[in-house]
Amino acid sequence: MKIILIGFMGAGKTSLAKLLRKTLSMEYIDMDQVIINLSGRSSDREIFDLDGEKKFRELEAQVAKNLKDKINVVISTGGGVVMNKTNMDNLKTNGITIYLKNSFETSSTRISKKNPPPLFRDLKKAKELYEIREPLYTSFADIIISTDNLKLAQIEAQVISQINNYEKNS
Ligand code: S3P
Repeated sequence: MKIILIGFMGAGKTSLAKLLRKTLSMEYIDMDQVIINLSGRSSDREIFDLDGEKKFRELEAQVAKNLKDKINVVISTGGGVVMNKTNMDNLKTNGITIYLKNSFETSSTRISKKNPPPLFRDLKKAKELYEIREPLYTSFADIIISTDNLKLAQIEAQVISQINNYEKNS
């Protein structure tokens, strides 16, 4: 099985992926971390500030391509991965894509004000991005979980039950 977690910044993709890795005994890959390792920088913020977003997106596309044939893995993606359809074609190959859906307000309360991701520094722009991306997350998702007001353990329980249903019906 290959599980791909998508959703906006602050959706909890990384926290959930870490939990699922243990529960399902799968490998876990954090795309942002792989991108950072490839870049030689120390964070996504540093890549954006020193190399530019274009460079980040090139690395992201490369990483998505390398994950095309991966199995027995849970992958947490960065919020912008859906802006490039080829990324999603590669990631979705033989996978189940789960959209962790939450309101923009939930993202802003979850995200650190001191050290936000680069595209969450300007709240107005971040909100615009949310509006643009929301329909994309929905269109690429096999399963959608609404996470507003849910605790991580509740989200995990829903994800596991929905994966079981999805597999029964496919
Ligand atoms: C981005 C989200 C970040 C990271 C990068 C770009 C985006 O990941 O990939 O800063 O475009 O939404 P998270 O969604 O894990 O914060």
